[in-house]
Amino acid sequence: MCGILGYTGPRQASDILLNGLAKLEYRGYDSAGVAVLDKGEIKIAKNKGRLKALEEKIKAGGAEKISGTCGIGHTRWATHGEPSEVNAHPLWSDDMSVVAVHNGIVENYREIKNELSQHGYKFYSQTDTEAAVKLIDFYYKQAQAESDGRDKDKLPLKAILKAIKKIEGSYCFVLLFKDYPDEVWGARKDLPLIAGQGQGESFLASDVSAILQDTRQVYYLDNLEIVQLKKGVVRFFDTEGYAKPKELSEVTWDMNAAEKGGFEHFMMKEIHEQARAVKDTLGSVYNSGRIHLNEMGLSDESIKEISQIYIIACGSAYHAGAVAQYVIEDLAKIPVRIELASEFRYRNMPFDKKALAIIISQSGETADTLAAMRRAKENGIKTLAIVNVVGSTIAREADSVFYTMAGPEIAVATTKAYSAQLIAAYVLAIQFAKVRGELDENASEKLIEEIQKLPEKIDEILDEKGRLEEIAYKFVNARNAFYLGRNIDYAVAMEGSLKMKEISYLHSEACAAGEMKHGPISLIEKGMLVAGIMTQKSLYQKLASNMLEAKSRGGFLLIVATRGCEDLKDEADFVFYIPETDEHFAASLAVIPLQLLGYYVAVARKLDVDKPRNLAKSVTVE
Ligand code: AGP
Ligand code: GLU
Repeated sequence: MCGILGYTGPRQASDILLNGLAKLEYRGYDSAGVAVLDKGEIKIAKNKGRLKALEEKIKAGGAEKISGTCGIGHTRWATHGEPSEVNAHPLWSDDMSVVAVHNGIVENYREIKNELSQHGYKFYSQTDTEAAVKLIDFYYKQAQAESDGRDKDKLPLKAILKAIKKIEGSYCFVLLFKDYPDEVWGARKDLPLIAGQGQGESFLASDVSAILQDTRQVYYLDNLEIVQLKKGVVRFFDTEGYAKPKELSEVTWDMNAAEKGGFEHFMMKEIHEQARAVKDTLGSVYNSGRIHLNEMGLSDESIKEISQIYIIACGSAYHAGAVAQYVIEDLAKIPVRIELASEFRYRNMPFDKKALAIIISQSGETADTLAAMRRAKENGIKTLAIVNVVGSTIAREADSVFYTMAGPEIAVATTKAYSAQLIAAYVLAIQFAKVRGELDENASEKLIEEIQKLPEKIDEILDEKGRLEEIAYKFVNARNAFYLGRNIDYAVAMEGSLKMKEISYLHSEACAAGEMKHGPISLIEKGMLVAGIMTQKSLYQKLASNMLEAKSRGGFLLIVATRGCEDLKDEADFVFYIPETDEHFAASLAVIPLQLLGYYVAVARKLDVDKPRNLAKSVTVE
């Protein structure tokens, strides 16, 4: 889950590493560290806490103490061992021959530790990573002993190759070898790693945003590839140790896209980028009056053959899938099951070979989602991934990819990527419906026109954000909240509720409104926030009754409703109206005030909106 970085070139490595790590801090932030290799000596600075603390520590200790032009860095999201200075990365072998940072989990670390203990190795941290570092050291020393001197430049490669054959789990390692000045080594399995190529310098990073200020020329590493950086030279090897040619790619997106651009938090900036994300996502597949899905491998024939759809995802992406379920079933009349990736990957179910699995993921790296997708593939099911991060593992392994055009999303709480995922789902629903004869040309054109109007309506809602800021202060001390809805409104309630809990730490539950009376209603207390979403006309009355049941037990009713819905106007404590749209697409508008509400409550509580506790942007562990 953490962020990792490597650099070799003419400049001071610690500067490059600290700058780059700042861009990766969203991936993990319970501790940070750097190691710099200089004149055959590796110097390390690391500590518990945010990157700022590491910067201060380095400054206080005299930055010259960590001088050198080749180094590695890490921001951690602990999986094994508490966040502490000892457990912070980099971790090293006893004589500092091998120093490494790691993202992921070494599943068989106990077994490795036991074996290495028999060879005299001692362990000082509680991490799984240390087992891997020392395993590499073990093989490195073995390679040294066996070497006749002619293969000296290959010894690190030999050690890494042997180690990765033994290591189980998912990982991305970036390493320094004390005896190899100016070299950085890396290896990846299932977790992201990119290499950057500059003038006389080269980089490794978990995410392109970390090196974008230095270079736009990058290589995307394939799974199970090993990389060697020398100053300005990047080389790749396969698991047999053979050199592999690889093509450079140019990153085209704008650096500003990864900066805050005048907003107090990335989350608010990204909330304001939703109109653009929606427009760009639609624009990427709809032009000259046609939806183009052919390029993503979805021919009309294959669409006609789909017997049912499994939508597989986690968190907010799952919530986008929940909206998609209603929309696809209603428009295209294809049965849809939504599946939590973490459940799907282990469930024994009869697989329908004619099903299409739609995998939704912003990062394209979520461990459970990736594993679930692989499971679907293994069972002969065609996979279509809706992914935001280009070149991510899910994008590369799926049979076809629908890229959402949200741009880089930095805040841990997703907003614009979720909105873009909804658009992808709408487009698929319309096209599937059209190809299968459920919608004629005219009707589908009308629906597209409605989607085209969404960006303007989203901005209209944002113009009224001040109202939500005011009401948010009411919930500064609140302890519980309910979000209710039916049909698409229930799917939106789930997302609104998650936004509230993940950043404001206010315990909140989403409930299909009809379920309230089967248990949850017993939780309602005087003044408790009960948010109701009302965008589906045929269900207004039903939802209104459920909301009134909550009110008569003391609930504070906050309603998000489509303009013209008068049902709870007088009874509600607060109503936020959203513009009218085709009901299939109402989630795209109803979610905006709910995102804002979560944001403003978190701000009112003075919390770290962009980096909520215990979370990370990309959940690459199980
Ligand atoms: C969203 O705000 C959450 N941080 C989280 O639920 C997220 O949506 C989930 O982890 C899935 O991530 P992905 O889209 O990158 O796969
Ligand atoms: N498993 C390693 C640890 O706990 C790396 C975790 C990460 O990916 O941040 O230190």
